[in-house]
Amino acid sequence: MSSIISRPEPTIIQGGMGVAVSDWRLARSVSQAGQLGVVSGTALDAVLVRRLQLGDPGGDMRRAMAEFPYIDMADRILEKYFVEGGKADGEPLKNTMVIPMEPTQEQLELVVVANFVEVFLAKEGHDGLIGVNFLEKIQLPTLPSIFGAMLAGVDYVLMGAGIPRYIPGILDRFAEGKAAEMPIHIVGAEKDDNFVVKFDPVEFTNGELPWLNRPKFLAIVASVTLASMLSKKASGYVDGFIVEGPTAGGHNAPPRGPKTTNDRGEPLYGKRDVVDLAAIAALGRPFWLAGSYGTPEQVAKALETGATGVQVGTAFAFCEESGFGGDIKDIVFNMVRDGEPDVKTDGQASPTGFPFKVLQIEGSMSDQKVYEQRTRVCDLGFLREGFKKEDGTIGWRCPSEKIAAFTYKGGDAEATVGRKCVCNGLMTNIGLGQRRKNGEHELPLVTCGNDVAGIKRFMKTPDSTSYSAADVIECLMAGIIIDSAVAAR
Ligand SMILES: Cc1cc2nc3c(=O)[nH]c(=O)nc-3n(C[C@H](O)[C@H](O)[C@H](O)COP(=O)(O)O)c2cc1C
Repeated sequence: MSSIISRPEPTIIQGGMGVAVSDWRLARSVSQAGQLGVVSGTALDAVLVRRLQLGDPGGDMRRAMAEFPYIDMADRILEKYFVEGGKADGEPLKNTMVIPMEPTQEQLELVVVANFVEVFLAKEGHDGLIGVNFLEKIQLPTLPSIFGAMLAGVDYVLMGAGIPRYIPGILDRFAEGKAAEMPIHIVGAEKDDNFVVKFDPVEFTNGELPWLNRPKFLAIVASVTLASMLSKKASGYVDGFIVEGPTAGGHNAPPRGPKTTNDRGEPLYGKRDVVDLAAIAALGRPFWLAGSYGTPEQVAKALETGATGVQVGTAFAFCEESGFGGDIKDIVFNMVRDGEPDVKTDGQASPTGFPFKVLQIEGSMSDQKVYEQRTRVCDLGFLREGFKKEDGTIGWRCPSEKIAAFTYKGGDAEATVGRKCVCNGLMTNIGLGQRRKNGEHELPLVTCGNDVAGIKRFMKTPDSTSYSAADVIECLMAGIIIDSAVAAR
């Protein structure tokens, strides 16, 4: 099997995987292997402050912070959070909640610096391309996050989990040194309401703004309708689309047809969810296919449809360089070796209301018995929803928080059923889980695609306990011949 491709865009995009599963190390390795490495931009402020409190082993955070162009800002963060040698085991970590609608300069600095650090490290020491992935559902930190990533010279911004129509125009404005604003979804907002967040690079930098390149913008979509709308009505140019199907890891778009479930409560996808790729191609932009494209055969099949390439997550999620903690990789490797891992498309787990893929692991948050013993608490808040209060001001609530608190804020008790604390679970997955004063510690919550068993193909021998990002790329690119004359253009 061989396919000839001839274009300057990457064939493989390593999908953004939050929180910090696709961290700077993974993205850098993928980029060094000639493809597009993407860091997750989700909750990077929380990630940075926890890495600093754990002593920043290896000094990578501090090395990148020393390169931040406004050094006083980086120093203030170090001063507040860095703990030499790291906090003792079991000692609670200082928390940072997601920033409010009108953040202070200090809150903005943390988000900007955190995004700068992750992209800076991913780009360090090579000339490859690096992208950053954001979720449209998490809106409050988006503007300073994009700015921080642009300060570090990010090449692509990728966004899904919603309708990212304002992002391309925001990239244009920041590249012109101008302020940008973005409307915020608020439950109960009326037609005349104008809830927006704003960020002014000139004000933030006190007038000392460097020249910034405009990164390309790729929208992650699950339908032609959305891709077509974005290509006509987004606030600026959308440089391409990632068409993601319902077998992909992470959040999935809800089914478009009637809302039916199987006997495990998993949403059922049907004919209306099959994307017409000819219609996507007719939009005239590069596009990549995602969701179980982790084999060379699938890559070749994608190229035959006219796609520029594929976006792959699960295969990279468990490679050596990914941010998942070592014990999680061991558990998953054993599951894959000993049988079929059980991946549930959980329609309730995520507070966003979007289906979320959850790998069933005993003793993790997916284990109902264990989860019921957890004290419900919302202390990161990245997935909270804004709602309009009777007095016209805005409140914030999360269906995974304490039920009484959620319903007191007008939330529907029904919406709390089956919800998991995705924010805390994802932090635990990467070794940055919260330890509480009462001795409790947060549990992991692992997401991956339906094709997780396929990671076997990257292991060199049946007993292998690891594989690298380069192994994945070598396997996926087998049989693909790059027309380098065109690719170099
Ligand atoms: C662990 C994990 C976390 C993910 N997190 C995100 C995310 O934060 N944002 C996003 O747009 N996609 C996320 N995804 C989806 C990937 O970017 C990618 O599109 C998807 O994994 C492709 O399908 P595959 O898993 O079958 O390879 C995640 C996937 C995995 C496996």
